[in-house]
Amino acid sequence: MHCTKKVTEDVIWLGGNDRRISLFEGVYPIERGVAYNSYLLLDEKTALMDTADKAIAGLFLENLEYALGGRGLDYLIVQHMEPDHAALIEAVLTRHPEATVVCSAKALTFIGQFFGPKLTEKAKVIKEGDTLELGRHSLNFIAAPMVHWPEVMMTYDAADRILFSADGFGTFGAQDGALFADEVDFDRDYLDAARWYYTNIVGKYGPQVQAVLKKAAGADIAMICPLHGFVWRKDLGCILDKYDKWSSYTPEEDGVLIAYASIYGHTENAAEVLAAALRRRGVKTKLYDCSVTHKSVILSECFRYNRLVFAAATYNAGIYTPMKELLEALTEHNLQNRTVGLMENGSWGPMAAKLMTGILEGMKNMTVLAPVVTMKSALTEEQLPQVEALADALAGASHTAEKE
Ligand code: FEO
Repeated sequence: MHCTKKVTEDVIWLGGNDRRISLFEGVYPIERGVAYNSYLLLDEKTALMDTADKAIAGLFLENLEYALGGRGLDYLIVQHMEPDHAALIEAVLTRHPEATVVCSAKALTFIGQFFGPKLTEKAKVIKEGDTLELGRHSLNFIAAPMVHWPEVMMTYDAADRILFSADGFGTFGAQDGALFADEVDFDRDYLDAARWYYTNIVGKYGPQVQAVLKKAAGADIAMICPLHGFVWRKDLGCILDKYDKWSSYTPEEDGVLIAYASIYGHTENAAEVLAAALRRRGVKTKLYDCSVTHKSVILSECFRYNRLVFAAATYNAGIYTPMKELLEALTEHNLQNRTVGLMENGSWGPMAAKLMTGILEGMKNMTVLAPVVTMKSALTEEQLPQVEALADALAGASHTAEKE
């Protein structure tokens, strides 16, 4: 049975939700699923904005035929070629050979790579500033290279002031039967998922997102239609502000995120002792065990807080694996502009702090605080002043991580 939703009088949502997916991209454990959005614009001409993941192929193709209501498809606009949106291009064109593919030159290359040369034969290659006339609606294309693939184009409909934003402004999490962000308690139920999605999928490309935000600032936008999550028609400033912060690596919250990687619990104990010392100073703290919480979740929290503590055991003369993997992920995603405290453990040769410092020095504008707590097996009474000194340094660093 089809399940489409009206976005506006002329725009129909054709997406679907996948709540059975266990790992998005084979990496991210999205227990709350994900929505794949696609939009059909009905005017004198019909235009489909992207397809969907193969996981929802049956529903999507049924939705498309229902929404077209017997009409043909004039244009298939391909904004993004990642297969969670592009997997069904061939299936759509098989059913609608009359359709012309509209996409960037790079996207056309990717269509050929994914599907073979046949699907590239009937295409209209567009670039930024080009216009596609559908009747009342006139679509303008905005290049969004590396947000987060090189071929990405966003589409602006001046008639209804809608920005079709590709992956931008999307979120993990299946929709709770809603279509619009204002139909749910977004801040309570979805903001963490939106941050998790942005920081991990797009986070590496902050400057490119900033460039698109600058272009968007010049457009009159009443609605944002992303390829995941919800449609934005109210309080656009809230999500735009979040994107500005995330893409400029500006912390959202004043507090200390403590991530610890502890083999037998002694490093964890030291992290708890530090957290208590910070709370006594009135500092907000949040703790994560790197062996328990997926590194992508901790990464998104590192984008959120202005001060970070990494507490790790030494392992094979290196950094204990879960912390090493977290720090590598932070480096890969270009996290910057944070104040960092370090704690290390090692029964005979503590090495973790030196190695963690080396990684952090390769990142931009990461201030590593001088008091490093070094344990040999377990924290001792004699070391409590070191913990207090680190807590003092962290508490005094509350405003050092502002946007550059
Ligand atoms: Fe949702 Fe980059 O694909």
